[in-house]
Amino acid sequence: MVLLVDRLDRAAEAVAIARRSRRIALQAIGLGMGLSGAAMVAAALGLLTPLAGAVLQEGIDIAAILFALAALRPGADDAAPGAVPADAGLAERTAEHAGLQRLAERLRRAGEAISDTPTALPAIEALEASLHAELLPHQREEERALYPAAARRLGGHDPMGPLVRMHTEIEALAARISALAAIARREGGWAEVAPELRRSIFALEALLTLHLAAEEEVLAEFVEEPFSAGAAPPRRAAAEVERPRAVAGGR
Ligand SMILES: [Fe+2]
Ligand SMILES: [Fe+2]
Repeated sequence: MVLLVDRLDRAAEAVAIARRSRRIALQAIGLGMGLSGAAMVAAALGLLTPLAGAVLQEGIDIAAILFALAALRPGADDAAPGAVPADAGLAERTAEHAGLQRLAERLRRAGEAISDTPTALPAIEALEASLHAELLPHQREEERALYPAAARRLGGHDPMGPLVRMHTEIEALAARISALAAIARREGGWAEVAPELRRSIFALEALLTLHLAAEEEVLAEFVEEPFSAGAAPPRRAAAEVERPRAVAGGR
């Protein structure tokens, strides 16, 4: 097996392909040896002439080879043909990304505005409301409908797993910002949490920006129109090239 991309998550899919290829190869070997053994017993009992035995052995070899070619058929984890269904919400979620990119920019500005005095607190509270009103519902809808549909289309072992784990970390950072903002509202709380609030806001801004770029790269395969802002263009061919492949008839 050869991995053509520098992404560790593809290693799991490569291992699954290798295991399936090995299982089919062992089954083909068992089939060929079993039939050959039966033919030898029949020949030893005088039920087969030498010529018939030779012809039968050739037939058994061909049958074993044809069986092994089953490795070329799509496996249970391979990509399913067809586009992502409309009710998966691909158009809606990609349209919301422009607003989320603006939210990431607001996070950066809010982090930069944090100083010794709580002048940035109103902006942070507005941001906190946006996180709960826009970002977290967006993620939940992706995990409910869009990711499962995209995973079936992409095939492989848990292709959306890395993006789901980023969602989890984004949600944890949003919760941390809410908790820190609650402390900051108390008397004398601002000085206590301002440095940590700044770190958390910058961490969320960086992770959200990275997540949007990674998500658009994955979903670009299904989008007919390019993403509106900071987006990767559709690249079905490139996405297919990046999938791990078996070499020398390996699957
Ligand atoms: Fe998204
Ligand atoms: Fe997402």
